[in-house]
Amino acid sequence: MAQTILESSYSLLLFIFFIMTMVYNGKSVGVNWGTQATNQLPPEKVVKMLTDNGFDKLKLFEADETILNALEGTDIEVMLGIPNKMLNKMSEDPDAAASWVDSNVTRYSNKGGVNIKFVAVGNEPFLQAYNGSYLHSTLPALKNIQEALNNAGLGSKVKATVPFNSDVYYSPDSNPVPSAGDFRSELRDITIEIIQFLYTNDAPFTVNSYPFLSLYYGNGFFPVDFAFFDGSNKPVRDGDMLYTNVFDANLDTLVSALSKAGYPDTHIIVGEVGWPTDGDKNANIQNAKRFNQGLLQHALSGNGTPLRKGTIDIYMFSLIDENAKSVAPGSFERHWGIFEYDGKPKYELDLSGLQENKGLIPVEGVEYLLKRWCVLNPDASNLEDLPKNIDYACSLSDCTPLGYGSSCNHLSVEGNASYAFNMYYQVHDQENGGCDFSGLAMVTDKDPSDEKCEFPVMVAYGSSLLLHGDTPDVLVKIIGGYMFIVFLLYLSIGEYQIH
Ligand SMILES: *[C@@H]1O[C@H](CO)[C@@H](O)[C@H](O)[C@H]1NC(C)=O
Ligand SMILES: *[C@@H]1O[C@H](CO)[C@@H](O)[C@H](O)[C@H]1NC(C)=O
Ligand SMILES: *[C@@H]1O[C@H](CO)[C@@H](O)[C@H](O)[C@H]1NC(C)=O
Repeated sequence: MAQTILESSYSLLLFIFFIMTMVYNGKSVGVNWGTQATNQLPPEKVVKMLTDNGFDKLKLFEADETILNALEGTDIEVMLGIPNKMLNKMSEDPDAAASWVDSNVTRYSNKGGVNIKFVAVGNEPFLQAYNGSYLHSTLPALKNIQEALNNAGLGSKVKATVPFNSDVYYSPDSNPVPSAGDFRSELRDITIEIIQFLYTNDAPFTVNSYPFLSLYYGNGFFPVDFAFFDGSNKPVRDGDMLYTNVFDANLDTLVSALSKAGYPDTHIIVGEVGWPTDGDKNANIQNAKRFNQGLLQHALSGNGTPLRKGTIDIYMFSLIDENAKSVAPGSFERHWGIFEYDGKPKYELDLSGLQENKGLIPVEGVEYLLKRWCVLNPDASNLEDLPKNIDYACSLSDCTPLGYGSSCNHLSVEGNASYAFNMYYQVHDQENGGCDFSGLAMVTDKDPSDEKCEFPVMVAYGSSLLLHGDTPDVLVKIIGGYMFIVFLLYLSIGEYQIH
């Protein structure tokens, strides 16, 4: 009897061990939580949703105190960002780096604190659109931050890295295949110096990858199947390697560039990857689900890319829609969320990558403003000032769903006006006087939404538009060169001609 109990507890232990190795195999995905939205959900509710869904890695663009406090006591691994605007200071002044580490990492490093694993120094600092502004501050800032982490006794656990835009590397037009990948000549020396530092410090190389943008900037020439993961009937051949998706081709271009630089086994983390659901003809729920589900399955399968076997470390972009992001790159910028502004999942997604068609768990206990909307008054007769009022409403809210290829593009002129008025009204917390527009607007309790186009009621957590009394402080994410897309475009067209 005693022996059977022993035996069964032994097998139980084995079983637990088995489960633990499965969990700790790195077989899980991370997610980016950006906060450029007018109305923020309470961080503790969002953190509970993360745990409910089994997201166990999180990337933050800033050390937001309310979010870090909400993460305390969870096991979620955090990559904590330092915004580009702080890079110069961090590079010039080791004390500034030390006090950043002190108040944003060390403070949370006690038991029951926050499981910070990485510090992301800057965000895509070498984007061409920044004109080289961060070219000389990125490496010194990286060194100062790692030094400060080491001095705080955290160096073996917390690694500093830099999330790069994927056009720091490319393949030449004369040989547009992943195996010909190299760093762009003007960035080559400085990037390799950074890699050297990361490598000796056992830190990963982080890169953001956007197949959606290949399609977006491909102007109809980019083969659609090649953006997704469910196979392409025209794979791209590179020596013995076959590529069926642009994500792998892009990562292997990096692997080749790293090999050429003499660091072939540098660990790679994909810091951002995802698909938006609105704001462009290719940005919709079906495509986003197709891409993200395929991505999860691929990344967690262990198959890796043709040049690199194993699980691919990814942080999905992104968690929740951000209605205050700059739309300079395109209207889709505000619609990358797997979850809506109110924490509802947009589609089913099985995070285990096993294609089980499991649903995601929403943020629970979300409070909304009253069920009322601001619309064009049907009795309004003088419509002369209508365009001016629509422009005003849109400039201080988010009208991206009205654009070409977007969810509300089918609305009439009147529908457009109502949409704009309502968005203004909602992101201004349905404030008194927020639904006037020279007497053209009125409040209604009849939901104007149709099947495709949602007229939202905002969540009841104060708008930053009211707090600051102005447009939200949008961090301008500028369009990069996306050089690799050009090469792959060329590459795939070239292949089409050969076959
Ligand atoms: C900690 O991070 C926050 C958010 O990025 C920043 O505002 C603050 O200045 C940092 N603290 C220090 C001492 O640098
Ligand atoms: C980069 O240079 C261009 C052209 O000179 C300018 O329009 C743009 O504002 C600059 N961007 C930054 C971030 O300095
Ligand atoms: C509604 O607004 C969008 C975006 O400004 C525009 O593309 C569309 O043509 C408008 N619809 C009508 C019927 O005017």
